[in-house]
Amino acid sequence: MGFKLTRKIKSIIERDSKVILTTTRGEIPFIPAKGSGDFVYDVSGNRFLDFSSFISVYNFGNNSIPEVRAAISSQIQDLMHSAFTDFYAEQPVAFAENLISMFPKGFGKVFFSNSGTEANEAAIKYSKIFTKRQYLLAFYNSFHGRTLGSLSMTASKLAQREHFGPFNQVVHAPYAYCYRCPFGKEYPTCGMACVDYIKKQPLGKETSPREVAAIFVEPVQGEGGYIVPPKEFIQGIREIASDNGMLLVSDEVQSGYMRTGRFLAMDNFKVTADIYTMAKAIAGGLPMGATVVRKSLGDVPEGAHSNTFGGNLASVAAANALLKYVKRHMASLQSQARRKGRLAMSRLEEMKEKYEILGDVRGIGMMIGIEFVKDKKTKQPAEKERDAIISYSFNNGLVMLPCGESSIRIIPPITISEKHLSEGLDILEASIRSVNASSKKA
Ligand SMILES: Cc1ncc(COP(=O)(O)O)c(C=O)c1O
Repeated sequence: MGFKLTRKIKSIIERDSKVILTTTRGEIPFIPAKGSGDFVYDVSGNRFLDFSSFISVYNFGNNSIPEVRAAISSQIQDLMHSAFTDFYAEQPVAFAENLISMFPKGFGKVFFSNSGTEANEAAIKYSKIFTKRQYLLAFYNSFHGRTLGSLSMTASKLAQREHFGPFNQVVHAPYAYCYRCPFGKEYPTCGMACVDYIKKQPLGKETSPREVAAIFVEPVQGEGGYIVPPKEFIQGIREIASDNGMLLVSDEVQSGYMRTGRFLAMDNFKVTADIYTMAKAIAGGLPMGATVVRKSLGDVPEGAHSNTFGGNLASVAAANALLKYVKRHMASLQSQARRKGRLAMSRLEEMKEKYEILGDVRGIGMMIGIEFVKDKKTKQPAEKERDAIISYSFNNGLVMLPCGESSIRIIPPITISEKHLSEGLDILEASIRSVNASSKKA
């Protein structure tokens, strides 16, 4: 497939650097222009297989669900924006009803916003007003967004926080990152030392559990490294929350919407949270966030929280059409995510045996992370090698995103064909082989 760096690509990147404030782009000169199922084409017609789903947004194919596109086109002819927080509209109500039907019994009520970070901002405010408590508990390596409330909880990279404090009152605790256990133990003989630690240290010595409004957790950590915790970890923090009158907030912005093979990632752990936050995939490519609250928590006073674009009719039209698609294909999407996830994992496990720099492979469904190390014994993070693998793959027609210190996310659309999945893994393996060989020489 061989990527061609054209004059057009160079010129757009040069113009971008003059007028756009720096964001989070890596090294690859990727300017997507057209999505088509498993593939994406850039502005110069270069074709790529997509293992990024554009950060887990196109979970069901790049721009490829015709009824989602049709619903948006039809809605925008009539009315794009209806100031849903100030006036009434049926479409967002219908979507809320549909969305709630995907949740466990007892849910609930929904607040609509425009992004993941806003969904979490709402969850922070609701947790505080429901409990009349002011502290929050979150985890190292977590990513909950970049607006100041969410950023107070985000603890993934220093660059994201430096110079932005003071923050909300958040206590941080280690996540169950078993490949690099913060307690030097091994699962399952560890006795869940990480859960014990939360009770004894932050909640035993620093902040009274009676003052903590909520524990915010990603059921699978995303940006921080695609870290999959053992079931007992999530169950343990559910217990801490329940025992102390705290709420448990499941941030499913990246892991929700079938990514793990279930609509809610939390269901993999047989745990029900009190508040769920969703965004990314929810409107098939248009901006939308949703904060879904357990019914028994009640409501918030008039005027306590609102926005302008929440329930935007174009986004809601897309979300409604997408959810209908998900419901119609639920059984197939579940089995596809599991089957293709297993396929990818077993191939990646084989690669782990072959290449010294591939230290860890982990995942649930089609939410898979691979972590690179200088060598398997020291586990020293191999960030440069990871970046080189992403670039090499890109130059050979495969798009992937990094995460954590030295990991890569493998998150193709769940609907990717097995043939394309395997072709993408071939490109990835060629990249790992090449970088592994040159790291041996160095
Ligand atoms: C788990 C999680 N929460 C929140 C966010 C923030 O979402 P957004 O970028 O839409 O604000 C992200 C984004 O990557 C995320 O992965």
